[in-house]
Amino acid sequence: MSVIAFANQKGGVGKTTTAVNVAAALAARGRRTLLVDADPQGNATSVLANERPGEGTYEVLCRQAPTSRLIRGSRYRNLDLLAATDDLAGAEVELATAEGRYARLSAALAEHPYRYVVIDTPPSLGFLTLNALVAARFVVVPLQAEYYALEGLAKLSGTIEKVRSSLNPELRLMGVALTMFDRRLNLAKQVAEDVRKHFGAKVFDTIIPRSVRLAEAPGFRESAMSFDGMSSGATAYDQLTEEIHERTEARTWQRA
Ligand SMILES: Nc1ncnc2c1ncn2[C@@H]1O[C@H](COP(=O)(O)OP(=O)(O)O)[C@@H](O)[C@H]1O
Ligand SMILES: [Mg+2]
Repeated sequence: MSVIAFANQKGGVGKTTTAVNVAAALAARGRRTLLVDADPQGNATSVLANERPGEGTYEVLCRQAPTSRLIRGSRYRNLDLLAATDDLAGAEVELATAEGRYARLSAALAEHPYRYVVIDTPPSLGFLTLNALVAARFVVVPLQAEYYALEGLAKLSGTIEKVRSSLNPELRLMGVALTMFDRRLNLAKQVAEDVRKHFGAKVFDTIIPRSVRLAEAPGFRESAMSFDGMSSGATAYDQLTEEIHERTEARTWQRA
């Protein structure tokens, strides 16, 4: 089981779009996958859920309910969902005083038959994101190719280091994924160059283009692949997913 958290405390950088499409692409390749929606906004849940869920991530984190009872199937084969519900908005406050508040997701995810667990996180470094980082083996950071893209990343790197030195020594930054890339803008190219200078080989080769189809798909409750499999966005997410799969399997790069 490989647990991958998609995190960046900035909102609107493509975390949810990336988590949903990578999870859907992993599942489409026959890899049994669970998506954990740890964002109270529940955008991943809206796309993937078969029906409006009554329970999910909140019960796991705040009630320590068994995940096996709360995981549901999704609109896609091989892809299951632990859903975000309205209650999840209260989880930050409830967890703040709860015992073992950092490791609840991690405890809940032990012993599951999934090849991949993909966690979508909210735009903050609070207890929800911390639970994701403590549960994960890998972090993927989606980064929007625009000014200030690198701003705030020092804080995220610091948080990853802290989690690593305390509760989860296994945690690794798997890679940085450039998203919403507009090839017509020199600015985007400049940002991509800066990001490569800063993160080197950690940056995935695949760049996710800005694409109207990607922005439209969630409105139809579709992944990029099922909405328009030939679109540039669908193709890019398929390639990114293969890179993620390769990096999960490889061992050499992790020592770098
Ligand atoms: N590559 C892209 N091209 C165009 N629109 C995108 C792309 N990626 C995401 N979006 C849109 O941008 C918005 C923010 O993306 P989202 O994945 O929700 O970010 P986050 O989860 O980091 O807040 C959403 O409306 C989404 O549909
Ligand atoms: Mg999101």
